[in-house]
Amino acid sequence: MHLPSDPVVEARGVTKTFPGVRALDAVNFSLRRGEVHALVGENGAGKTTLIHVLGGVLRPDAGEILVEGRPVRFRHPADAARCGIGLVFQELSLAGNLSVAENIFAHRQPVRAAGLIDWPALHARTRELLARFDLDVDPRTPVRRLPAARQQVVEILKALSRGPRVLVLDEPTSSLTAPDAQHLFAGIARMKAAGASVIYISHHLPEIFRVADRVTVLRDGRVVGTCAAAEATEQSLVRSMVGRDLANIYGERQSEVGPEVLRVREACGERFSGVSFSLRRGEILGVAGLVGAGRTELARALLGAPPMTAGTVALDGRPVRIRSPADGIAAGLAYLTEDRKQDGLFLDMTVRANCVAPSLADFAGRLGWMDERRIDRFAEDSRRRLRIATPGIAQRVRNLSGGNQQKVLLAMWMGARPKVLIVDEPTRGVDVGARSEIYGLLRQLAAAGAAILMISSDLPEILGLSDRILVMRQGRLAGEFLRGQATAETIIARALPPDGGG
Ligand SMILES: Nc1ncnc2c1ncn2[C@@H]1O[C@H](COP(=O)(O)OP(=O)(O)OP(=O)(O)O)[C@@H](O)[C@H]1O
Ligand SMILES: [Mg+2]
Repeated sequence: MHLPSDPVVEARGVTKTFPGVRALDAVNFSLRRGEVHALVGENGAGKTTLIHVLGGVLRPDAGEILVEGRPVRFRHPADAARCGIGLVFQELSLAGNLSVAENIFAHRQPVRAAGLIDWPALHARTRELLARFDLDVDPRTPVRRLPAARQQVVEILKALSRGPRVLVLDEPTSSLTAPDAQHLFAGIARMKAAGASVIYISHHLPEIFRVADRVTVLRDGRVVGTCAAAEATEQSLVRSMVGRDLANIYGERQSEVGPEVLRVREACGERFSGVSFSLRRGEILGVAGLVGAGRTELARALLGAPPMTAGTVALDGRPVRIRSPADGIAAGLAYLTEDRKQDGLFLDMTVRANCVAPSLADFAGRLGWMDERRIDRFAEDSRRRLRIATPGIAQRVRNLSGGNQQKVLLAMWMGARPKVLIVDEPTRGVDVGARSEIYGLLRQLAAAGAAILMISSDLPEILGLSDRILVMRQGRLAGEFLRGQATAETIIARALPPDGGG
């Protein structure tokens, strides 16, 4: 008999192997009614694979899944959905050309007699859902027109609209704005109160302590342990995830800041205006602000994609005009995109090919032949230094876990040795061990003379790494702090709009 205290969903001895990787190894996992159960672990630990098995996306090689005590065999995500399991994917799964309403209610649109879609009802129900996140978006808007953060909300609403008994969230806040994250936490609390359960994956440990009742740690496809969140600390979780203690992950500056490299005056563009700042050799300049403050637009404009509409840029004291990314790269700028899927990686190419893509010319020998051995060495070296979890550099990037894809992107631009490196959310979706590696690499690049502009929504990262911090709000500079002068509170106070809203 199934008692109310028994697990709603359970995995027993689940094993899943991909070519060269045992992603899950005899995993036991149980989810209780009304609980939020967090899954944590390094990139490639098997978190996404586990929830894909629970959600009917992947079939396990061995072991079984039980729902309310009964063994089930999911052939398709729809089978899991019928059992009340709703997944919000780490990588967005929306149809860009369809409207917000069509995406949320895909295949379940309210119909009138004669089977016609009841558009007014569809739009009204969509508006109700959007209101839960205080979103004033027309339900008819094509999803591709929304910024990534909004698309993520649509993805979440799509799962919530089915009223699932089990909601599975794979790094839901990695591209949410702070107010949207608050709405999500409120939504989770409502679900819990109604007796539903949530599986919550995140690399942001403070979030785990905020939402989770229990935590399970995965490492290399195995369960290290499960405990009550109240009994864990950030340090204890990190130790179980990484297998060792991590000291100050942000490191210390290794050399002096040098002369000015970049000066931007009164830059204007699509979503920013009147932005002036300078950047010096060896400096790490953090740019804080809410999602939507215009930081990415500013960075892209520096690269010429699209160019600034007004203002000037000088590199090493000489004025430059950057009209396209090719101009920007030629001038010594590099931009590590926040949107790795859209315009960062070549998903169907190998890790090796991606690592050297922007610096391929450096690997050409005298007669124009590619020095394949050096490419191998560079790619192998990147894999080792960034600890990219993959059976080999010949693996296609598409098959890597989300965080490992981010590491490949970093390897790409670090190899190009730019004068000014702009990194946009460099550690989004990256586990704490790899994060500390990435910080170390950014510090090394700075010590070697690069000037680094680091856009980040992760305040501890901004505070831990920056020599100087700019805060952007609604497209304008709203504050500047020297290292040591800023706190999370002072930055947030500058980043929030004057009315205090989102
Ligand atoms: N389709 C696939 N083909 C080959 N290998 C895969 C495939 N999907 C996942 N893997 C591998 O399985 C392992 C587990 O991946 P998974 O995506 O579950 O990790 P994760 O814990 O979610 O990591 P992250 O925090 O980076 O999202 C990784 O080594 C990954 O490269
Ligand atoms: Mg994952």
